[in-house]
Amino acid sequence: MSDQFSHYIEFRHVYKTFAKPVLADVNFFVDSGKTLAIIGRSGVGKSVSLFHIMGFLKPDKGDIIVAYQDITHFTEKELAKVRKKVTMVFQSGALFDSMTVSENILFSLETREDYDEKNREDVVEGLLKIVDIWDTRDSYPSDLPVGVKRAVAIARALAAQPECILYDEPTTMVDPIMSEHIGDLMLRLKSKLGLTSVVVTHDLDLMRKVADSVMVLSEGKAIYFGPVADLGQSHEQLIKDFIEMDRVVKPAA
Ligand SMILES: Nc1ncnc2c1ncn2[C@@H]1O[C@H](COP(=O)(O)OP(=O)(O)O)[C@@H](O)[C@H]1O
Ligand SMILES: [Mg+2]
Repeated sequence: MSDQFSHYIEFRHVYKTFAKPVLADVNFFVDSGKTLAIIGRSGVGKSVSLFHIMGFLKPDKGDIIVAYQDITHFTEKELAKVRKKVTMVFQSGALFDSMTVSENILFSLETREDYDEKNREDVVEGLLKIVDIWDTRDSYPSDLPVGVKRAVAIARALAAQPECILYDEPTTMVDPIMSEHIGDLMLRLKSKLGLTSVVVTHDLDLMRKVADSVMVLSEGKAIYFGPVADLGQSHEQLIKDFIEMDRVVKPAA
């Protein structure tokens, strides 16, 4: 660990403009073993923020710290090393439809350098059991509900034995029971494996369940960054609307 950076992930005055400014002086951090939620309206730059953490995008200005290193000017080769520690679960799941669930997991195992051929079946079984979908091992992704596909995608991300997982809207378009299941799973990975994570979500229940801190993005800025527990005290109208809307659209428990 470098003594120069004290947070596992940190954005320092990050700017990114495409057709219009998307991130304009964004600052936040995530400590090791903690979970940050990123919330905000569609198109506000949530996925773009995750892509900067993965090094898929470079900021126009500012610094990106990941795994205690300043990755801002890293080469692809250096980034490949970072991506062994930090992996992303894509919204689409990015699974291969022509392979079974087991084969999808095996595929990413085989990209690992220290992968041991002998116990491959055990590793696949272990991963599918962690995410509690062992019974789907011989199914094809296209036959599975979205929520189960997300769980497969999480199992596949875990095959790389990461320190940190980035989740992009893991419960969007997932039914309430499976959403609960994914939330429980994220919580287990945090408490049992000590994984650090960043979760982009519209689901405030999920945020309250898994996140320690939250950043709210609006018009290029973090209009809130702090503990989840204090979000309700914010005087920002957009945040009040967000919380109110979430309360109204959810059926009473
Ligand atoms: N690679 C790209 N090239 C150009 N524009 C992009 C690119 N990626 C994202 N954008 C734009 O940046 C904005 C934020 O996108 P995104 O982070 O995907 O939003 P969201 O908060 O919904 O995840 C959008 O206006 C999007 O069109
Ligand atoms: Mg997005």
